[in-house]
Amino acid sequence: MLKVGLIGCGFMGAMHANCYKNIEGVELVALADLRAEKAAELAKGTNAQLFGDGKELIEGADVDIIDICLPTYLHAEYAMLAMEKVKYVFVEKPVALTREEGEAMLKKSEETGCQVQVGQVIRFWDEYVELRRILESGVYGKVVNANFRRISPRPTWGWDNWLLDTARSGGAGQDLHIHDIDFVLSLFGEPQSFYTVKSAGGEANSYVNTLMQYDDLVVGVEGTWDLPGSHPFEATFRVVLEKAVVENAGGKLMLYTNEGASEIKIEKKALAGEAYKGGNVSDLGGYYNELVYFCDKAAGGEAITEATLGDGVASLAFVLKELK
Ligand SMILES: NC(=O)c1ccc[n+]([C@@H]2O[C@H](COP(=O)([O-])OP(=O)(O)OC[C@H]3O[C@@H](n4cnc5c(N)ncnc54)[C@H](O)[C@@H]3O)[C@@H](O)[C@H]2O)c1
Repeated sequence: MLKVGLIGCGFMGAMHANCYKNIEGVELVALADLRAEKAAELAKGTNAQLFGDGKELIEGADVDIIDICLPTYLHAEYAMLAMEKVKYVFVEKPVALTREEGEAMLKKSEETGCQVQVGQVIRFWDEYVELRRILESGVYGKVVNANFRRISPRPTWGWDNWLLDTARSGGAGQDLHIHDIDFVLSLFGEPQSFYTVKSAGGEANSYVNTLMQYDDLVVGVEGTWDLPGSHPFEATFRVVLEKAVVENAGGKLMLYTNEGASEIKIEKKALAGEAYKGGNVSDLGGYYNELVYFCDKAAGGEAITEATLGDGVASLAFVLKELK
């Protein structure tokens, strides 16, 4: 049985706890949150030991893996402490607030031999996994151009309103837009050049739009959390290939060719537990998939090769260049 310690029991911690409760061979044995009631809520249905500050869990809990769902400005400090304690650490995205923190985390993982996965969850999100499969199959030729968009109501749910404090979250650029940047970098690598426009007035980096120029394709990536609470969260893409268009919009993944249009059906995994509902996410698929991958690697003592610490630091570095 793989023993999990989870630090941070807010929005994402609740999502992860629900996933762990649904993964075979995994037991949630320790939970930490400064808000005791949050940890107690997630402990329901488990025998988990409860802690306040995450450092108490790192010091005192008997665990095989540590999962860090803390506000971004705390990632580096807590993840590096966790790396000294266990061989597998999961840290939410963005990996850290600054490039220097990311580099320090890489150094610590090399020193300790700890395997670290970053919550760049889009790499595990069904529609995006299917897109990658289609592109890699080569059936419809090369990509000509692509557009990825992620728009969200303002995230007002954060503890101590940390998400809307750019100094602690990095704003929508680092927190939201990084999802698509990470995925685009994983598909196409770094562009030859790029041009970014971002919000000028009001909250810094609450709107970011980047055009990436490659030798043989162009990619646009737009992200914002400037929307009112009444607007639905949307994560969409349109990828134009030589012989088809793959489009994810309106809750459907579609394939358009000269022969006609067809929906690509994705079988969603049903979870046994009660699904956590809240915030801007209604589907647990990607979170479940990334944690199944992480737990499999930890259980088998294998290296993390997807959404690695290096990937997380590279994506952060790219976003920081966009926002400069
Ligand atoms: N992958 C995704 O799609 C996704 C979505 C949302 C958030 N996130 C990321 O997850 C992380 C957490 O975000 P969130 O939305 O869950 O925030 P949140 O504010 O809802 O939760 C953070 C929790 O950490 C607790 N906390 C703060 N300091 C602590 C400490 N020292 N010790 C123990 N607990 C402490 C708070 O009480 C709070 O419950 C962030 O890095 C965020 O960017 C990722």
